[in-house]
Amino acid sequence: MEQKVSIFDTTLRDGEQSPGASLTAAEKLEIARQLTRLGVDVIEAGFPSSSPGDFEAVRQIARTMEGPVVTALARAVKADIEEVWASIKEARRPRIHIVLGSSDIHVQHKFNRSRDEVLETGVEAVRFAKSLCTEVQYSTEDASRSDRRYLFRVIEAVIDAGATVVNIPDTVGYAVPGQWRRLIADIRRNVPNIDRAVLSVHCHNDLGMAVANTLAAVEAGARQVECTINGIGERAGNAALEEVVMALRVRRKHYRVSTGIDAGDLSRTSRLVGKMTGLTVARNKAIVGANAFAHSSGIHQDGVLKHRGNYEIMRPEDVGAGDTQIILTARSGRHALRHRLEKLGFAITPEELEELHGRFLTLADAKKEVFDDDLFALATDRREPDQQRFQLAGFRIESGTSVPASATVSLGTGQGVVETTSPGDGPVDAAFRAIDEMTGVPVTLKEYHVDAVTAEKAALGEARVIVERNGSVVSASGVSTDVVEASIKAYVNAINRLVAGESGRS
Ligand code: KIV
Ligand code: ZN
Repeated sequence: MEQKVSIFDTTLRDGEQSPGASLTAAEKLEIARQLTRLGVDVIEAGFPSSSPGDFEAVRQIARTMEGPVVTALARAVKADIEEVWASIKEARRPRIHIVLGSSDIHVQHKFNRSRDEVLETGVEAVRFAKSLCTEVQYSTEDASRSDRRYLFRVIEAVIDAGATVVNIPDTVGYAVPGQWRRLIADIRRNVPNIDRAVLSVHCHNDLGMAVANTLAAVEAGARQVECTINGIGERAGNAALEEVVMALRVRRKHYRVSTGIDAGDLSRTSRLVGKMTGLTVARNKAIVGANAFAHSSGIHQDGVLKHRGNYEIMRPEDVGAGDTQIILTARSGRHALRHRLEKLGFAITPEELEELHGRFLTLADAKKEVFDDDLFALATDRREPDQQRFQLAGFRIESGTSVPASATVSLGTGQGVVETTSPGDGPVDAAFRAIDEMTGVPVTLKEYHVDAVTAEKAALGEARVIVERNGSVVSASGVSTDVVEASIKAYVNAINRLVAGESGRS
């Protein structure tokens, strides 16, 4: 009988730890909805102790999602565990996730305690979590660099204390597949009570082996795998969910396991996460990259035309790629707009539809034909929180070959509209300087780029900025058919996110 492997998605926790990938609570909720549609078994919604904003985002997801288990991360301390419980207790199926290091490097250089003391801390944490919640997951951080005998002892002790899932992380992406497979098999052989818990793995991609290691662990009997959409996460990221799922599916006879994922939703989910985090995938990325199903050499094209199986091990439609393009125009009504947005994965309330329809008509008047990519940009652009500290009220630019650039920008603030004119090295620099002067929130611009959403002269421009202030890094985007306006919107959105983060709102 084929066994099921649970898919634990940590896009909203480990994925959001990618520098600049900060998401608002509304964006997190939108992604959680899409993950639920995709069929993940567990959503790790965040790390509530990291900020009040993250706590609130986790709470909203826990309240709203039906179907998947909702979990959030705690260190092995009472305050963190209490905070996780407060954020997830309204979930239909809550789980507390505790992490504590098990390698000597962590025991000595992070905790400065003995192995036994650290083990006892983990056991106490599980006992406390168990007094609040039936499902408790324990992660032995840095397991790949831990002493095996000690690791086995820790696992046995936390299962005895009530852990229902034990997760073995390759925190620093150090493992290689053969050795990782053996470690998982040895855990199953050497931990006497292992059958009382689900065995899970969490692999990082520092050496490019996160997916290979995850699959090796499945071969050895792991029955939960932790992944992120597009493989985003700390440093080089985590195992990419779409790659793990499609490997298990395409090579089902080899792995002899199944997942509950609706693979036809993979492309849509990848696109949503890429847009919202600003971490778009490379064209040649497996499964979801733009070239993943593109055959370019003459020999391959000829082969595919004769028989798809000549060069395809899966079809684009298996992962929801290459959907028929529906083009909307100003004559398309609200019904068509709603239908298309839902197909793209957005849950739209009647009020949101009204607001989006207004912006859709402005866009359709400007560029006549509105493609799916335009709708994606429109729908993600509206996701800024309602209570923005600064709003763009208007702008005017002067720039040319023999005219020094200057920008006049008007911003709505809590105290009314203010306006400043500033010179600059080009219109975007001038506008950003004017905004800096008015907001009084000095930021360092770390990254700035503008892309055309579709390949036409009248295309929407999508600007994305990453800014930093006092060690906090946020990214934000703005769209408009005018690229200077798109840039200004992105910059103002980023400043609003920073200010909201500083005052504890996500
Ligand atoms: O990489 C890691 O060890 C983690 C744990 C919290 C599972 O992210
Ligand atoms: Zn991790």
